[in-house]
Amino acid sequence: MEKEYEQAVKILKNNHQETIIPIMEKLNENKKEILAEQILNIDFKEINFLYDKTKTDYSSNFENIEKIKAINPDDLSIQEINEYLQIGKTAITNGKFCVAIMAGGQGSRLGHDGPKGTFKIDIEENGKYLFELLIDKLRKAKKKYGVYIDCYIMTSEDNNEETVKFFEKNKYFGYPKTHVKFFKQNSTLVIDKNGKIVIGEDYKIKTCSNGNGEIFSSMAKQGIIDEMKRKKIEWVFIGAVDNILLQLVDTMLLGAAIKNKEMIATRTVLKNAPHENVGVFCKQNGKVKVIEYTEMPKKLAEEVNEKGELVFGEAHIMCNLFNIEALEKASTKNLEYHVAYKKITYLDENGILVRPTEPNCYKFERFIFDAFTLFDNILVLRGKREECFAPIKNAEGIDSPKTAKALYENYMNNIKNKNIKK
Ligand code: UTP
Repeated sequence: MEKEYEQAVKILKNNHQETIIPIMEKLNENKKEILAEQILNIDFKEINFLYDKTKTDYSSNFENIEKIKAINPDDLSIQEINEYLQIGKTAITNGKFCVAIMAGGQGSRLGHDGPKGTFKIDIEENGKYLFELLIDKLRKAKKKYGVYIDCYIMTSEDNNEETVKFFEKNKYFGYPKTHVKFFKQNSTLVIDKNGKIVIGEDYKIKTCSNGNGEIFSSMAKQGIIDEMKRKKIEWVFIGAVDNILLQLVDTMLLGAAIKNKEMIATRTVLKNAPHENVGVFCKQNGKVKVIEYTEMPKKLAEEVNEKGELVFGEAHIMCNLFNIEALEKASTKNLEYHVAYKKITYLDENGILVRPTEPNCYKFERFIFDAFTLFDNILVLRGKREECFAPIKNAEGIDSPKTAKALYENYMNNIKNKNIKK
């Protein structure tokens, strides 16, 4: 053991990462051993690569951008809509469809103590957990289509155990356990503003789940894609855990993708303001691209056409449908990392836990929508915002439990008053 520890210290020194050595020296033998083993497996070249990423200037990357074409369901005839619905229904009843929920994020802005899906929102009589709302949708689909749709839930190293326990405790909210499967996503090292690795509260080198775009390779690594193929599943809807109006079983989107022979389809909503915190669709050099709001140049965000409509107004709301072949193709590619500067808890040089109030570390994330660029086209179907988008991102203010609750109640009232069909 002594040898491994010394080796780890030497490696840290050789790679200019000695900042954590003083903390390591204070640890007991067991913790030292765990840490040394972790350090011996670090790819220090990757750290340099990641640190270089933090210096990337994205502003130069916005040439040849054009508007994307979206289908507006208001422009479709009743016959076309019914045909899409019928095709979608047939695929579901034939067991060709499943869903995947991305629940591996940290939910740092919401600040809920536990996985985001275990957050309870004050709606209905007794409140509803975010996971419960999603399972409710699958139970309704069972009533409508007569089949249990398989549900894959992506967790992270940090929240997997708690998520599984939560489902066990709540008896899977009445859904058969055999139709719910968890899989963990990968993580990547976190570095501070000087490019140094840090130690977390568990006395390990701090890593974080590396973005929802990791879903493809994580699915492949854990045999999920193979399992889907064995089950003859052809379509996978991937949605976020934190949109309480998520149309998890979007029959029309499914039918539209099949009918139009597209490998990927997405539901969008129109952006409600130029600087709303959502990514937007566009085309760059003929390929589909989503520009995340954090990277969107002001000029593009505010550009309007002659009618005063936003040119880049088609918002990505994490409602994406993939054909299994598209999923498989995406799983073989390493999507690009995006950099986020976040508040990360760490141990200082005296081994004291610091909970920063301001961002202090870089996190590296792959985004699901970067997979779109691997394909020539995708089908973009616009949805009505009030029927499919009520995100919970922040504890207060915009996109918070309060705003989501208001949107949800408005939706339920509209159903009650038959303004929209359920
Ligand atoms: P967000 O990008 O909004 O992140 O995730 P978040 O983790 O929920 O919240 P913040 O940014 O820390 O406040 C959008 C969706 O992608 C999932 C989230 O769980 C959410 O459903 N996600 C995000 C993952 O599954 N893995 C990740 O690594 C990141």
